[in-house]
Amino acid sequence: MKVTVIGAGNVGASCAEYISQKEIASKVVILDIKEGFAEGKALDLYQTATTLGFNTSIKGVTNDYSETSGSDVVVVTSGVPRKPGMTREELIGINAGIVQKVSENVLEHSPDAIIIVVSNPMDTMTYLALKATGLPKNRIIGMGGALDSSRFKTYLSLALDKPASDIQAMVIGGHGDRTMIPLHRLATYNGIPVTQFLEKKVIQKVVADTMLGGATLTKLLGTSAWYAPGASVAYLVDSILNDYKKIIPCSVFLNGEYNLEDICIGVPCIIGANGVESIIDIKLSHSEENLLNESAIRVKEMNAALSNFIRKGK
Ligand code: APR
Repeated sequence: MKVTVIGAGNVGASCAEYISQKEIASKVVILDIKEGFAEGKALDLYQTATTLGFNTSIKGVTNDYSETSGSDVVVVTSGVPRKPGMTREELIGINAGIVQKVSENVLEHSPDAIIIVVSNPMDTMTYLALKATGLPKNRIIGMGGALDSSRFKTYLSLALDKPASDIQAMVIGGHGDRTMIPLHRLATYNGIPVTQFLEKKVIQKVVADTMLGGATLTKLLGTSAWYAPGASVAYLVDSILNDYKKIIPCSVFLNGEYNLEDICIGVPCIIGANGVESIIDIKLSHSEENLLNESAIRVKEMNAALSNFIRKGK
């Protein structure tokens, strides 16, 4: 199985690292526009194969899409960060141009690939990738919910002082600090509701910390995070290539589910060989439903910055 990662930056390199080390794919190609950058990252990573004992082959290329041909999954991490003085709309415009062009190039060489979108603003870029490529909705997956859920589980494990692997919890809604919805009502410690162990105010703090998860790391690191985003992508790729059918919250196109239409936003999905095998329509409480509707309004406001873009078919 072959996986291409577009963008050899922090997140792209981390994706390639986990996918290779866990031998989730037999071939990994990393592509970047910056001359020699992907080649350097791939070579460095490949030189860990003998010491770590993995067999995945890793190749880096500068903008040469022919090397990506026949990929089963393509991960799109390419984009630029917001610079001082840049408006949100300008950033969306630049990253939209990159994501659109990259998606077209990818499909030219891997017409059957499932595309995972990581570039921010992630829900908007996922929506753009879907509209720009015209691919069926099961083949375009936005990664945000997987990452936000892993952060939520980590904060719960810290509050409980119990192993993170024993925590089940999910985050739905948009992948933004004002749009995500950590579903604390459904969170469990090995099947037992966390509400049995944690006071309400502690749960509220866990929810607030989760929503600021990305911003907290950006403040600490001086740039956005990469280990957890890379691992979340690898988790998705693993479920696709091995057809595990894991339930993973992802940003996917909704056509009436959760009473939402014409939007990509985080909801629980079954992820398998066909990408999004199905969307799980869980019964939300009235307040959760309100939060999801508010989140959808905010995501659609961001998508509005794309409307000319999509219409003009740039
Ligand atoms: N084609 C290929 N690669 C590109 C292109 C392009 N058209 N445009 C930019 N890139 C590459 C850059 O050269 C850079 O190496 O994308 C890479 C982005 O890497 P970083 O700047 O390190 O960003 P990173 O931290 O990896 O985040 C990538 O994921 O979480 C999101 O917000 C984050 O949108 C960002 C994305």
